[in-house]
Amino acid sequence: AFRPDHILRVTAQNYTAACTTRYSVLVNGTSPGPELRLKEGQVNWIRVYNDMKDENTTIHWHGLTAFTAPFSDGTPAASQWPIPAGHFFDYEVKPEIGSAGTYFYHSHVGFQAVSANGALIVDSHDRPYHYDAERTLLLSDFFNKTDKEIVDGLTSTNFTWSGETKALLVNGQSRQATNATGSCQLGSISVEPGLSYRLRFIGATALSFISLAIESHDVQIIEADGHYTKPLRTTFLQIGSGQRYSVLLTAKSEEELKKLNSRQFYIQLTTLERPESLTNFAVLNYSGGKKADLRTVPSRPPLPKAKIVEGWLDYELEPLQENKGFPTLEEVTRRIIIDVHQNVSDHTIWLQNGYDRVQSFPKSPYLVDIYTGKLDTEETYERAISRGNGFDNITRTFPANVGEVLEIVWQNQGTFTNGGLDVHPFHAHGRHVFDIGGGDGKYNETANEEKLKSAHPVLRDTSVLYRYHQKTKPLEPSGWRAWRIRVTDAGVWMYHCHILQHMVMGMQTVFMYGDRKDILAQSSPVDAGYLTYGGSAYGNTT
Ligand code: C2O
Ligand code: CU
Repeated sequence: AFRPDHILRVTAQNYTAACTTRYSVLVNGTSPGPELRLKEGQVNWIRVYNDMKDENTTIHWHGLTAFTAPFSDGTPAASQWPIPAGHFFDYEVKPEIGSAGTYFYHSHVGFQAVSANGALIVDSHDRPYHYDAERTLLLSDFFNKTDKEIVDGLTSTNFTWSGETKALLVNGQSRQATNATGSCQLGSISVEPGLSYRLRFIGATALSFISLAIESHDVQIIEADGHYTKPLRTTFLQIGSGQRYSVLLTAKSEEELKKLNSRQFYIQLTTLERPESLTNFAVLNYSGGKKADLRTVPSRPPLPKAKIVEGWLDYELEPLQENKGFPTLEEVTRRIIIDVHQNVSDHTIWLQNGYDRVQSFPKSPYLVDIYTGKLDTEETYERAISRGNGFDNITRTFPANVGEVLEIVWQNQGTFTNGGLDVHPFHAHGRHVFDIGGGDGKYNETANEEKLKSAHPVLRDTSVLYRYHQKTKPLEPSGWRAWRIRVTDAGVWMYHCHILQHMVMGMQTVFMYGDRKDILAQSSPVDAGYLTYGGSAYGNTT
């Protein structure tokens, strides 16, 4: 009989974090859910039960390419029907060879991912870096309102903001105020003097763009989004929603600890680019001393206040091994420029080239319609090409043929109403993209090619579209981010801002690569259940 390798059960229930109880979506009863460890090259069947009473769900394996099973990418209305309450879905998850690194999984429905998430680590036999042990630090947000209140507020004609994050959680833990009541504790990472560690940071926040530093310790970046990098020394990290970094940390020796007169060091986390900045702490805790004090919140931040560094790591971070297949400008077959800005119609929405996604969910998922032959990708492609900007306004997708080389430019624009700007961590499902940089104003090909001459672009699945200014004129460009990708993986892949509020407000696009033939040639067959399972992508069961 079929036996899944892993089982995840999604529930909705009252759950306490940061000394506050909230009705939250959980995986296996906790937030974050269990850490999954998968081996490169190995097929894993992961069964996800939706044990909620009245909500749909899906699980996405953030950062994994999924080209051998595009139906397992976990995007509602794109790659699958959402899983209705009381049902399960078997995901075929196969981390490809060479993908050893740090990932996470999360729900892709509504605002569920704020709590329905967990670390996913891909292991391999060979390790280019030595370290004695490793620790995972999954960073997430805590909101007082429920998912439903937040989604309803963001999508109603009477726009109501979710509110700012109330706490920054490290592995689900946080204690913020010096006078906090309740048993909540600071997140804690334990280390032994003298050993070396790989710390895996996972940006699983809903909203927060976090600047993070560890008292008295600097680190070396060795991995970004599942790809090893050349070592890069830094005193801080800047982590957007969806991004991951591994760093090497050399723990202090007993002697050094004596000199520093401490065995506990604060990890200071600060939100960037929000109207109010929040600073929270976790603890790097050396074993061997008296029991760690995880209830005392420093009355004053031990480290200087973090400031944003626009373009952090751009043109600077290098892949450990030269990336084969980096497409040159000459190889680019099409450039797709996507202007993003906020607008107000009957409610507040985020538009990409004038379109939002939430109001245009298809009746059935694109990939299902490709398998059944209902969606003709060739027609879609021709329409998109003839319109000139690569967008098909009937299916509302960006189609491309296998073999094309795309350059995708995200262009930040002032809101239609008052020219306000935001920071957006853009995430690519499917194959990772070469990040060819970002900057202020408008993308300029000649200037960027000049910069690329001395750079070695890394593959990323999430990179940040900065704003550079708080405000500009309505629709004026202010900040860009550019990617290059060889289209190899047939399937339906969402490219979207990873801020959950923005996603809910329409900041999502769908790229449709290849046709039915390509998909069938590269992936496992689907069963009848996959084609007929029902449910809506909005999160409710009707
Ligand atoms: Cu982690 Cu489509 O997202
Ligand atoms: Cu955004």
